[in-house]
Amino acid sequence: MRKKIVAANWKMNLTLHEGADLVNELFKGMPTLTESKIVVIAPPYVNLHQTSSQLAGMMNVHLGAQNCHHEAAGAYTGEISAAMLQSAEVAYVIVGHSERREYCKEDDATIAKKVNQALAHGLNVIFCCGEPLEIRDADTQNQYVESQIKAGLFHLGEERLDNIVIAYEPIWAIGTGRTASTTQAQDMHKHIRSVIAAQYDAHVADAMPILYGGSCKPSNAAELFACADVDGGLIGGASLKAGEFLGIIEAMVAAN
Ligand code: PGA
Repeated sequence: MRKKIVAANWKMNLTLHEGADLVNELFKGMPTLTESKIVVIAPPYVNLHQTSSQLAGMMNVHLGAQNCHHEAAGAYTGEISAAMLQSAEVAYVIVGHSERREYCKEDDATIAKKVNQALAHGLNVIFCCGEPLEIRDADTQNQYVESQIKAGLFHLGEERLDNIVIAYEPIWAIGTGRTASTTQAQDMHKHIRSVIAAQYDAHVADAMPILYGGSCKPSNAAELFACADVDGGLIGGASLKAGEFLGIIEAMVAAN
């Protein structure tokens, strides 16, 4: 049975104290999770240690990071390596988020190296892909996303795919309040699964969680998570408020 995952991406939000308060609130309201219905919380780096201690008492809630560097170590001022994340008990790392692709000029080759660093250090990767509005308007989103997946993941042997989660995040839906329709999300998730099946096999594709991201909130989570190929969400804005994030987690728990 493939995992369902709701992952919080706090981005560059919340101070240490605000982060602690939020995790405390989540702790109080967290529904019962299982090994196949899990939550990931990816706070900023400075919160990792504190959040890790707070999560110690929470079953099936895992620590995530928002990025890692593509080299193992060295003179990269201000950067954080996959080994450092591993030592901070991080279990998941977000790689290739569209904000990093755009603002930090991360290209496909760099992202593929990050994937390798993360896997080499025992981390699970939440690999982000998704098209900008002009690509959606030109109706070439399937080819666009396929090429991101090919460049970022297809160098991996089948055995590494167990540690990969894909997050489809149409850029035009991130932080805009404009969500992909359930048909748009399902069509793309199905396409992504077929791309994985063609390169690897149906078994690998069936086992891979594919998350939706982009203005996911309690009011639309249930219908998105009801789609056959949508296995949860990567949540930005709505993960910063305990009530909203818990509402999305409840929708995952309730989903078949
Ligand atoms: P959003 O962000 O939920 O605020 O749209 C999602 C993401 O960028 O991961």
